[in-house]
Amino acid sequence: MSHTPASRRAFLAAASAAGGSLLVSRRGAAAAPAPTMDSTLIGTSKWDLDTPALCVDLDRLEGNIATMQARVTKQGIATRPHAKTHKCAAIAKLQLAAGAIGICTAKVSEAEALMDAGVDRLCMTTSNPAVSKIRRAMRLRQRSPHFIQAVDEAQNARDLNDAAKEAGVCADVVIDVAVGTRSGIPAGPDVIALAQLIDRLPHLRLRGMLSYDGGAQHVTGFAERKRRALEAIAPNAELFAQLTKAGHAMEIFSGGGTGTYSVQHLVPGFTDVQVGSYVFMDMQYLAVGGEDGPVYRDFDVSLTVMATMLNNRFPGRLTTDAGAKALTLNQPTAGVIGEPGFSYNAGSDEFGVITFTESAKRYAIGDRLELIVPHCDPAVNLYDRIHAVRKDRVEAVWAIDARGRSQ
Ligand SMILES: Cc1ncc(COP(=O)(O)O)c(C=O)c1O
Repeated sequence: MSHTPASRRAFLAAASAAGGSLLVSRRGAAAAPAPTMDSTLIGTSKWDLDTPALCVDLDRLEGNIATMQARVTKQGIATRPHAKTHKCAAIAKLQLAAGAIGICTAKVSEAEALMDAGVDRLCMTTSNPAVSKIRRAMRLRQRSPHFIQAVDEAQNARDLNDAAKEAGVCADVVIDVAVGTRSGIPAGPDVIALAQLIDRLPHLRLRGMLSYDGGAQHVTGFAERKRRALEAIAPNAELFAQLTKAGHAMEIFSGGGTGTYSVQHLVPGFTDVQVGSYVFMDMQYLAVGGEDGPVYRDFDVSLTVMATMLNNRFPGRLTTDAGAKALTLNQPTAGVIGEPGFSYNAGSDEFGVITFTESAKRYAIGDRLELIVPHCDPAVNLYDRIHAVRKDRVEAVWAIDARGRSQ
């Protein structure tokens, strides 16, 4: 893997600057207190943390951010990373410091938490059908001129216009144009009618459109993933050109994720990728395959969960303290670093069960293990804080600011 080396000091400075989110740092820049804050953790080996403990390797995190930024910049587009993955203002600040043009959020409460922690260039990629949420979104717009809201139907646009008027703002909006069937409006005349309506509504300002293809991201095999992604988004690209030609202000054409980031620049008019998982990686993404083989290696696994061995008394079986409440999903199963022969089952609430025929070492009760999570987004959402580790030592403890913020 190649990436532009980034200054570690600059990264940490960016993460701690204006922070309400850096719980503890080596320099003692404490911010919002959290129940689990413990400054004595700084300098501790990750192998001595109480477990289950969520950790991010700083060298790898910085490398992933630099790799993504360098690669898409070279391709002539930008990054607008999605915070639904990390929910952490400190990491969002690293992404912005590396050159991201903004940060995406999935939920209003997520956006509120990040803005409270000093991240204000936010784009809400989900439309808000409830008037109460629209009002909250417009309060965020009051706080930041850089706040952008997705919209996907006429009534939603009218409600947004009313809430923007009430808040005394002109709201920047992007139309969510579907790729697949999960969300957004299918590319076609309804999008054109919505763009015309937005242009008529005095308290809305059209900025462009979103087109995220969730279905393409985890297609196995790079060639097939690329084909599927480019084919599915083609009607949206035509529509984007049509709207631009008709005189609408289409400065944003955003989408793409970790699985398709390297081909999005081939879409005519495309401006930026909303990549999320690349900062951490997980078992799901490792399995989708890359340009050079069956393992997706464009980014390093930076996110791990430290676990402790609880039981070694049964042949061919081990039990740890990291089950579903530490990892969420059990599909695919978690990876145990250094133990390719282990099969890890996190199906039980409190326990992880390992079955094996071959083991790299003998495990005593109390020994530690390092796990790669099945899927990063829901796993991170289980933890109040993440231990930022360099060369195995805790360098900072960051709040997962938007943890549990799903409304
Ligand atoms: C709208 C949207 N954009 C971007 C992403 C980020 O995708 P990934 O984690 O695959 O990079 C997601 C993830 O689900 C998403 O829902």
